[in-house]
Amino acid sequence: MKTVLLGSSSLRSTRIAYGCWRLAGARNPREVTPDHEARGIRAALAAFEAGYTLFDHADIYGGGRAESIFGQALRQAPGVRDRIAIATKCGIRFSGDPQPASPHRYDFSASHIVRSCEQSLRRLGIEFIDLYQLHRPDYLMDPAEVADAFDQLRRTGKAREFGVSNFTPSQVAALQKACPMRLVSNQVEISLRRLDCLEDGTLDQCLLDRMTPLAWSPLAGGRLLADSNAAPPAASRPAGESLGVAIADIALSHQVSPAVIAIAWLLQHPAGIIPIVGSVQPERILDAVRADTLELGREAWYRLLLAARGTDLP
Ligand SMILES: NC(=O)c1ccc[n+]([C@@H]2O[C@H](COP(=O)([O-])OP(=O)(O)OC[C@H]3O[C@@H](n4cnc5c(N)ncnc54)[C@H](OP(=O)(O)O)[C@@H]3O)[C@@H](O)[C@H]2O)c1
Repeated sequence: MKTVLLGSSSLRSTRIAYGCWRLAGARNPREVTPDHEARGIRAALAAFEAGYTLFDHADIYGGGRAESIFGQALRQAPGVRDRIAIATKCGIRFSGDPQPASPHRYDFSASHIVRSCEQSLRRLGIEFIDLYQLHRPDYLMDPAEVADAFDQLRRTGKAREFGVSNFTPSQVAALQKACPMRLVSNQVEISLRRLDCLEDGTLDQCLLDRMTPLAWSPLAGGRLLADSNAAPPAASRPAGESLGVAIADIALSHQVSPAVIAIAWLLQHPAGIIPIVGSVQPERILDAVRADTLELGREAWYRLLLAARGTDLP
């Protein structure tokens, strides 16, 4: 796969990343079975084999089990750690953490950021995080406190680059102003089922400030293609073409799967969107890579946009 630099940093990634959210097979760590674990390891090994070099995690995925399963996969694949970049996130705390009465909340306190990073390092079994991200904006975010935590992690060698997730452009600006380092990425939901970032200034801000947008759920968690399969033919729709038909027709003309079309649509945006593929099925993990070499062209891109909008352009 072709590679790009993240933001203005020297951290390199393939144009398509692999997301580790589903590696543990369950949200609750107590529900992760040995079968889940074996499937998660197989998926990670398939992603190494397919050539992905950016891997996205969060401390909460599978209650930490996704990171530890990935750590096991790394130990089974000597030499891989040195040629990939590992990203993880912190800042979401579920109810019951740490006390039974503790509420679901976001926590960007310096102590939580630093502690979460150290715990992720232990679970992953690695020396440093390549890209450390804040998962969801904390209503109580103090930019100066976050900047201190990032600086501490950078000085101690625990994390090298820093990014955010689900931030608005103004939240990025407020944090960037306080930070001694450049923020390199904003991980946001973008897909043919979630078009907001195209119009709310998120991608403009990435272009303006040279930050890389990472697209989570590029297939809308699978719903995009489930809908595509169920979509009625265009002729039976009262107005416009259905998204499912547009994707299927373009996929047929390029002789690729619908998933490849949905991912290639994201890759074509000039902001340099990196879609994060989330399947745990080795054949789908490998198939998605085909989007890297597919040129959709402006007309097909707009055809998909129109079908996704369901209304004409002004
Ligand atoms: N920052 C955030 O707030 C945030 C939020 C969510 C996710 N993320 C990141 O984004 C990554 C990707 O998210 P995601 O897993 O939702 O991505 P996705 O690629 O949109 O969805 C993956 C899901 O779709 C299914 N799927 C894949 N191909 C399919 C097909 N051809 N037909 C039907 N279903 C299909 C997969 O099932 P199979 O596994 O069976 O193939 C899997 O359940 C995560 O791993 C995580 O790293 C970040």
